[in-house]
Amino acid sequence: MAGCDVGVFGLGVMGEAFALNLESRGLRVAVYNRTPERVDRFMHDRAGGRSIEGYRDVKGFVSSLKRPRIVVLFVKAGSPVDEAFASLVSAGLERGDIVADCGNSHYRDSDRRMAVMAMRGIRFLGVGVSGGAEGALRGPSMMFGGDFSAYVEAENLVGRAAASFEGSRCTSYFGEGGAGHFVKIVHNGIEYAILQGLAEAYDYLKRGLGMGALEAARVFEEWGRGELRSFLVEATAAVLRHRDPESGNPLVEMIVDEAEQKGTGIWAVEATHELGAAAPTICEAVQHRILSGARSLRDRVSAAREAALGGEELQPEIVGEALLGAVILSYVQGAALLEAGSRRYRLRVSEAFRVWRAGCIIRSRIVEEIYQSLSTGLQDPVAQILLERGDRLEALAASLASFVSSAARIGVPTPAASSALAYLLALRSARLPANVIQAVRDYFGAHGFRLYGREGYHHSDWGRGTG
Ligand code: 6PG
Repeated sequence: MAGCDVGVFGLGVMGEAFALNLESRGLRVAVYNRTPERVDRFMHDRAGGRSIEGYRDVKGFVSSLKRPRIVVLFVKAGSPVDEAFASLVSAGLERGDIVADCGNSHYRDSDRRMAVMAMRGIRFLGVGVSGGAEGALRGPSMMFGGDFSAYVEAENLVGRAAASFEGSRCTSYFGEGGAGHFVKIVHNGIEYAILQGLAEAYDYLKRGLGMGALEAARVFEEWGRGELRSFLVEATAAVLRHRDPESGNPLVEMIVDEAEQKGTGIWAVEATHELGAAAPTICEAVQHRILSGARSLRDRVSAAREAALGGEELQPEIVGEALLGAVILSYVQGAALLEAGSRRYRLRVSEAFRVWRAGCIIRSRIVEEIYQSLSTGLQDPVAQILLERGDRLEALAASLASFVSSAARIGVPTPAASSALAYLLALRSARLPANVIQAVRDYFGAHGFRLYGREGYHHSDWGRGTG
């Protein structure tokens, strides 16, 4: 009997949480997992007494769904998504049904999948879902892309699971194919940049000011009560405060200092190059995750490291101001990447910030303020954000400069703060030294250059008579 409103395919951490969320919103939910034991365990442990039906076979799962069927995929990015789609088609998915891929898929894969599924009349949605397991359970931010008619029908059901901010549901449609997954990848690029900024601020508090994890936690909690109010600052304070149950020591100090990554940050960097959007702090954050993993090189070099240069230490307030600057400029760079992406999809930058106000990992007071700027602003997004914050950024630039300089003198690397400062100073420079780059490129490669006040491309022999 086809009595279920929606089906969740994939009972990993996110799939289980999302299924419970959907049921809590009054929906009858069918669940399936390729490993039947996962279904049995979920039905026994968490789904008992709820309007959730567990299926050990994909045919039964598909048959349980009301038409047009809506299947929500929570499987790993890559071939598992294609395999899931193939098994659903074999199990009887039909023309007009909807498949919503809610994993962290690449936007180009989602472009392709929409076309492949459309050939069978099946409507594809690529949905960026942000908020981790907690978000999936209580209300994530949901960035939809794909078939618009599928969005209109599915958002009314699946979108119920989303977070809301002041009565505004944190869901939006960003365009065909992979538009939703593109916005999620930008979200994750900003997440990486902010995480790097938080890490280096902690590093300075520890190595520069001699703070232990508990004292640093208090500083982050203080920052979180001001302009840096955000989920990630709150999360950082929480992890700094947490003690290892066995030893009683701060658990964070026991964790191996090699940052891992599942790939979305790397895709964000690739997108900056593919779309020609400058986002150096996002790029630096990925680079320094890679560098943190260069264990043997680090061990060899750090053993021979010169003593730190030394210098005056900054007060935590200045460190917080510098962090705020790096965080604001990380969002600005994300806005620039979204703006570049709007040439590929029909997305509106302001809509991304609207749905990021609650539920997602980068939710923050700054997101709320940027959304206000963009929803009323007339300029292009990046200019709008920067010009509205001109004076504030002036002050933050000074703190960034002090922080970067002081950190360098005590040997603390600050890729997020340094790249954010360089980004701001470059944007504010009437002239950049790119003229020297053009000249030397022409000197060795005759690549040519443009001249102020003259039309066309020019070349010089630079006095070598080579023409
Ligand atoms: C989110 C998160 C999530 C991501 C984790 C881990 O928005 O809920 O971004 O989608 O998987 O952050 O990502 P990395 O392994 O790339 O750090």
